[in-house]
Amino acid sequence: MVPKADRLKDIEFSKIRLLNQKVEELQAEGREMCTFTIGQPDFPTPQYIKDACTKALNDGFTGYGSYTGSLNFRQAVVDKYKRENGLEFSPDQVIASNGAAQAAYLVLTTFINAGDEIILPNPMYNIYDNIGKICGANIKHYSLKEENEFQIDIEELRSLVTDKTKMIVICSPNNPIGGILTKETLEGVADVVKDKNLLICSDEIYERLTFDGETAPSPALIPSLRNKTIIINGFSKAFSMTGWRIGYVIAPLCYMEPLTLHSGFQISGIATYNAEAAAAALNDDAKYHTVDAMRAEFEKRRNYFVSEINKTAHFSCLKPKGAFYIFMNIKKTGMTSNEFVDWLVENYGVAVVNGAVFGSEGEGFVRISYASSMEQIKKGCELLHEADKALTEMGR
Ligand SMILES: Cc1ncc(COP(=O)(O)O)c(C=O)c1O
Repeated sequence: MVPKADRLKDIEFSKIRLLNQKVEELQAEGREMCTFTIGQPDFPTPQYIKDACTKALNDGFTGYGSYTGSLNFRQAVVDKYKRENGLEFSPDQVIASNGAAQAAYLVLTTFINAGDEIILPNPMYNIYDNIGKICGANIKHYSLKEENEFQIDIEELRSLVTDKTKMIVICSPNNPIGGILTKETLEGVADVVKDKNLLICSDEIYERLTFDGETAPSPALIPSLRNKTIIINGFSKAFSMTGWRIGYVIAPLCYMEPLTLHSGFQISGIATYNAEAAAAALNDDAKYHTVDAMRAEFEKRRNYFVSEINKTAHFSCLKPKGAFYIFMNIKKTGMTSNEFVDWLVENYGVAVVNGAVFGSEGEGFVRISYASSMEQIKKGCELLHEADKALTEMGR
């Protein structure tokens, strides 16, 4: 048998998917489960987007398209960023990808050589760690701590950046913590990198999902970061289109030549009918309200879940300002995150994700995805209260 390439030697399967497999096994045994593990909205894709896809298929959008995505798609992305994010780009700065995950792969593998330093958030959804390993990068992490409201500690970041640093990844709102980086934090990052020749890779996949009237500013809004920032975004979360696999990269013009060259081999363009549907998703202002309705429903669920968690003796959480995750502090249980996840699943049928799978700063936390029905959330909260009571009875 031919061994796998060396570049894959430290790569692991997603621990979240492994946990989901375990939940499915328990369900197959007849156990009733409350599952809060998956980062997938529980809404169907809005009908107007599905209609646009059907129309595109019927209109003959079935042949090869441009490697970077159709002009219609790229223009829709540009218009969206101008309208909603206050940023002006040209369609030549956009490349369509099969999901944000592939956008991340394109960006890192286009710029990172073996031995280059990259600095990633801890905790963080771990595609960047794995892609960084595939590139042979020297990976460092900055911490996002609850006591610091999950903002970047600018002095810690300053201590990590060297002349070998090629990229800093930021993600706001963040998976797993749901935190938003403030403009002041981004200005701090700008100060750290002001004399450095490096890239900021900004994962903005949750930027439409923010609450309490807040927005998640892009680092590209900070003038000195504008030409250093490569944006990664996609349709999975805001439009509930996880299975469609549509995302994109927006980069300063000076970086488009290598990205475009490389995308020709890595992506070769996305499905042409999907590109039409995605453009319709962004363009149809009135129908876009279906997306706002999903966001409002997430906000309602968040409010309920957070208030129930903070009524317990052993669990607590900050009120996350974005995405659809709660990062619940379980330190008072005296268990590790791994022990807690197993205990909760076995004894109460509630599945949550071990915070430590997102990095060492996630130890003592679990990630709860509230992309789940209100009925499930109410049941899950009842069970959490029972677990809390049992912990008190156990003398914890
Ligand atoms: C922060 C972050 N980036 C990227 C992705 C990948 O998204 P996509 O479905 O568009 O590949 C996810 C998915 O959970 C995510 O949480």
